[in-house]
Order: sequence, then structure tokens, then C-alpha cells
Amino acid sequence: MSPLPRPPARATMYVRTIQVPVMNEITPIRPNDLDPFWMPYSNNRAYKTNTPRMLARAEGMFYYTPEGREILDGTAGLWCCNAGHGRREITEAIQHQASVMDFAPTFNMGHPIAFKAAAKVAELTPPGLDRVFFTNSGSEACDTALKIALAYHRARGDGQRVRLIGRERGYHGVGFGGISVGGIGTNRRQFGAQLPYVDHLPHTHSLAHNAFTRGQPEWGSHLADALDNLIALHGADTIAAVIVEPLAGSTGVLVPPVGYLQKLREKCTAHGILLIFDEVITGFGRLGTAFGSERLAVTPDLLTMAKGLTNAAVPMGAVACSDAVYAAIVDGAAAGIELFHGYTYSGHPLASAAAIAAIDLHRSEDLPGRALAMEGAFEAAVHGLRGLPNVIDVRNMGLVAGIELSPRAGKPTDRAIKVFHRCFDAGLLIRTTGDIIALSPPLIIEQSHVDRIAETLSEAIMAEAS
Ligand SMILES: Cc1ncc(COP(=O)(O)O)c(C=O)c1O
Repeated sequence: MSPLPRPPARATMYVRTIQVPVMNEITPIRPNDLDPFWMPYSNNRAYKTNTPRMLARAEGMFYYTPEGREILDGTAGLWCCNAGHGRREITEAIQHQASVMDFAPTFNMGHPIAFKAAAKVAELTPPGLDRVFFTNSGSEACDTALKIALAYHRARGDGQRVRLIGRERGYHGVGFGGISVGGIGTNRRQFGAQLPYVDHLPHTHSLAHNAFTRGQPEWGSHLADALDNLIALHGADTIAAVIVEPLAGSTGVLVPPVGYLQKLREKCTAHGILLIFDEVITGFGRLGTAFGSERLAVTPDLLTMAKGLTNAAVPMGAVACSDAVYAAIVDGAAAGIELFHGYTYSGHPLASAAAIAAIDLHRSEDLPGRALAMEGAFEAAVHGLRGLPNVIDVRNMGLVAGIELSPRAGKPTDRAIKVFHRCFDAGLLIRTTGDIIALSPPLIIEQSHVDRIAETLSEAIMAEAS
């Protein structure tokens, strides 16, 4: 038997010491302190051996590095701090709740604040989607929605409907359900096993037809007709649900073509298939309305959310369900538990407190209205990048924009990553996916921030021209 391979030497001996202020004190992070945290979706080796980018404090539109350098947040964290950072109302609500009751179970029990949070969510969701199931993340919300769809059909005596249809370039988190219906190869290949009975619609991105479109592209609604092919192939009576992001964010801001979602809705209704909108990114004002479904004028049967739900101050996700789905499963069940699904922390008191406070801010500050009011200026600024070297597309809707760069020959992602580094060094946080830059600033953004984003990005793109 050959000896076990030796573990590689720890990389962090090269890392410089950094100071992170925590609770008004300076906590030194020593080199080896970087090892234990296995960073998610990260190049751990590169990060830990190079100068680590750290964020230590946040307020309003800005992050601050441990050294006190100001970083304009062009991404609302990870599409989630829609009301801006460090909102006192949310912080105080969490603090208060922690002092009153830290935790209480919600399995055959309750605490008032979870019910209040669900009622607040239901005030914002599209009419008819009034039943709210709480989770802890977007991934859990997506897997929960898929399970609810399967349970719905089974409750109606349609248990052969087990097929789930996702879409290429869709992102629905990292649970087994989410990666199965999701359409990102790298998220699936490493793990082998996935859900069976899954198929995918084609994505809607086309540089040939839609490059530099402002808002929804005119071309592409026919791509929804691919659902007819899947129905013909598998039989409508085997299909439980179709899940799509109304506007796909994580794979580079793919705005739905005019009429595309309407077509999906009509086909699903005609064939008894549930339509799930994954609104983890498009929820809570991002597209200028409470949820994207309102702006895009299509109501799904199930709607997932997370991120902006609590302004990301405490992790929380949720699925809003139609009354018909709820009634089929809950009213139709034999006595006892109706849905064998839930999380210890579903409706966690601190998350519920954060959600209530965040939704109150969403309403009192009219965050969707602010997003809508700034959409024109934001659109003009990002489309102003057209013509810079390697910019092959700019697309936008609400306060989301994608700027696609041509990849360096033989080095995909390299150009965008370097632009990201340059922006960070110049005081701007952007996000990249492949060679696409994604922007999704907090909805409290003002003109001066828009100008600064455009200027910094423009300089970084120019500097990576070669
Ligand atoms: C559309 C969509 N669905 C689901 C998720 C997963 O959410 P989480 O990372 O909270 O699990 C994300 C995260 O970015 C998302 O964009």
C-alpha cells in the first residue's frame, strides 16, 4: 500500500498581519488565523497567500477596510443590503428581541414575532401569495419551494408529477434541489449525484440579438416555447414545476425578454404546472417594485426570497405560496403534521425582528420608489461604458446592471477579476461572474455614488485594456 500523501504546507505563513476592529477594539488577526475559515465560493489559496481584502465596518453606502479605507458598495453586499448598511432601526430591533427572547421553537409551537413577520411579508408579496414558509437562506427557500411543489401534486392525487424544470444559467442556491434545477455546470460537476427527473429550458442571453439593450430586450420571448418541447418529451402530467429567476442575477444579469415570462405563465397554467419565481435577488425593491413579479406583470404560484428580507442583518429566507397550494397541502392532509419539512430556525425570533424592521424601512423610505427614481441615472451611467475597450454588452433593469467584457485569450475570467481588484483598490466594490461585472448597489444610492461607480469602473476597464 502506498503511503498517504503528505498534506500540503500551510500557505498562510506568507500572509501579513492585519488589524480588524471588533466592538471598538482592535483584534489582531495573526497569519495562521486565516487557515481555519474555509471560505465559501472562494479561491482560498490565492486569497490567503496574497493581500487579503477585508471589510471591517459598514455604514450607509460604504464599507470600511480595517485600515479605515472607504469602499463604495456597488453590490449591496451580495445583492442583499437594499436599505444600505448599519440601519439603526434594524440593529435596535435585533438587540431588543435578543434581550426579550433569544430563541423559541416553531414546531407545533409559536412566538408572536414569527407570525407578525409572516404577515408583514404577505403585505408585500403579490396578491394571492399570502402563505409564508420561513427558511434561513435563499438555498433553503429554493429547495423548500421545490418540495412544496412536489407535495402539492401528491396531495391532489397527482403524485406522478415529479419532474422539475429549471433553466440554463439559472442559480437557485447550493442545496441538491437548487444545483439540480440550476443551470451552472461548475456548481454541479464536483458533486456527481443530483436530483433525478430534472430538465432545463434554454437561457435567454443573446449578444447577437440583444447587446446593449436598456431594460427588457424585444428579442427572445420565443425561447419560452422550449417548454412545449419538454412537455411533448416528458408529458405534462409528469411535470411538477418550472423554476426561474424573473431576472437571472448570479450568471451575469440576464433580463427577461418582453413577453417571455408571460408565455411561461400561460403554458404552466394550461398544463397544471406550478410556476416558481426565485426572487432572492429581485425581491425587496431591486427592480423598482416590492417584487420583480410586480414590475414584470407575472404572478407565480410560489415565490422564493431571502437577502433583502432582513436587509441581510440576520440570515433568513422564505417561500410565499398561493392559497391554492397551501390549501391543497394543509387542508387536504389527514390529521397531524401536514408538511414534513421545516428548519430549527424557521421564523427565528432575531431574524423575524430584523425582517419586520427591514420591511418597515422598505415601506417608510419607499425603497422601490427610490430605485425607480434612480434607474434612469444608473442606466445612463452604465451604458456610458459602451465603447470602452472590451465592453461587449451592457444590460440593466431597476438597480441591477451587467457589463460583459470580452475574455482574454486563453484566460477566461482574468480580465474581470483584475478589474475587480483595481476597483477595490480604488475604493469600489463590484462583483464579477465569469467575465461579466454585476452591479446591484443599495437602493439608497444617490447621483454622486452613481458617478463614482461609473468613473472608477471606467478607469479600471481602461487599465485592463490589453
Ligand atoms: C436567485 C438566487 N437564488 C438563491 C440564492 C441562494 O441564496 P443563499 O446564498 O442565501 O443560499 C441566490 C444567491 O445569490 C440567488 O441569487
